Amino acid sequence: MSLDLDKRQRAMLREMGVRLWQPPPAAGLAPVADAIHTVAVDARPKRAEGRFDAEAEPARAPAPAAAPAVRPVPAQAPVSRPAPGLQPRPAGVELMDWPALQAAVAGCRACALCESRKNTVFGIGPTAADGAAPQVDWLIVGEAPGENEDIAGEPFVGQAGKLLDNMLLAIGLQRGQIDATAPRAGVSTSVFITNVLKCRPPANRNPDPAEVAQCEPYLKRQVELLQPKMILALGKFAAQSLLQDSVPELQKIPLGKLRGQVFHYLGVPVVVSYHPAYLLRSLGDKAKAWDDLCLAMSVAPTVVRSA
Ligand code: URA
Repeated sequence: MSLDLDKRQRAMLREMGVRLWQPPPAAGLAPVADAIHTVAVDARPKRAEGRFDAEAEPARAPAPAAAPAVRPVPAQAPVSRPAPGLQPRPAGVELMDWPALQAAVAGCRACALCESRKNTVFGIGPTAADGAAPQVDWLIVGEAPGENEDIAGEPFVGQAGKLLDNMLLAIGLQRGQIDATAPRAGVSTSVFITNVLKCRPPANRNPDPAEVAQCEPYLKRQVELLQPKMILALGKFAAQSLLQDSVPELQKIPLGKLRGQVFHYLGVPVVVSYHPAYLLRSLGDKAKAWDDLCLAMSVAPTVVRSA
């Protein structure tokens, strides 16, 4: 992987705990950019966040205390009829424009998460002048809002979000600002950040398959309208949601084995990486996350457009 990193990108990588190491050039030879290797060096303990202890492990159901002799229950079909107090997902999501989609998510009562949420979290990116979907090169998909995101109504605003922002800055991307301040010079805001679930699961529990099924049409429509050039799927739930129709036996594949490949979702390239909350507690895997970003960049290089 050849990467020409400028001073700012190197500073960002230092921030996220990834040190660039370059072997000393042989006598008389100029350094070779291809020889850059990454080493994780950040050994400071960080506050745990989220629900990602087993990120690198295959998806597992909790083992029952004593296995009863019952036949396995087939996977639940997507919920079609809402429980009392809930309402069906708004019809026609697949045809909605961006403002209609935002409104549909904001008013969604299709699963029980609507009862406990403070805010829905649609996503964050640059604002298009006419309210249409922003034209972004990158789409980042996380799992679900946590407590901070539920309060702010914006994805990835906690510790994991800080790490994500630093990772993005290292590749020249900055999240769109709610106050629409001008992006930094030399940095692109061509990125939209969202989650599989648009509402917070209480107590940061894992998303329930029925909740994921209810929310999936929203993510699908976001992809159709955004038409990104690259989707970065962060963590198991994002990977499973985006790749379930294209990767056989996906549930059995550990996240780590989905890395290093380019998949496709609705024709858009998808690269799978670790969830930032997992990286906060698994420092040794930060260098792998950097490799994932490099792979994604090789498919969709950051383009800084002048305003
Ligand atoms: N974790 C996620 O997956 N998404 C968020 O928005 C915040 C934490």
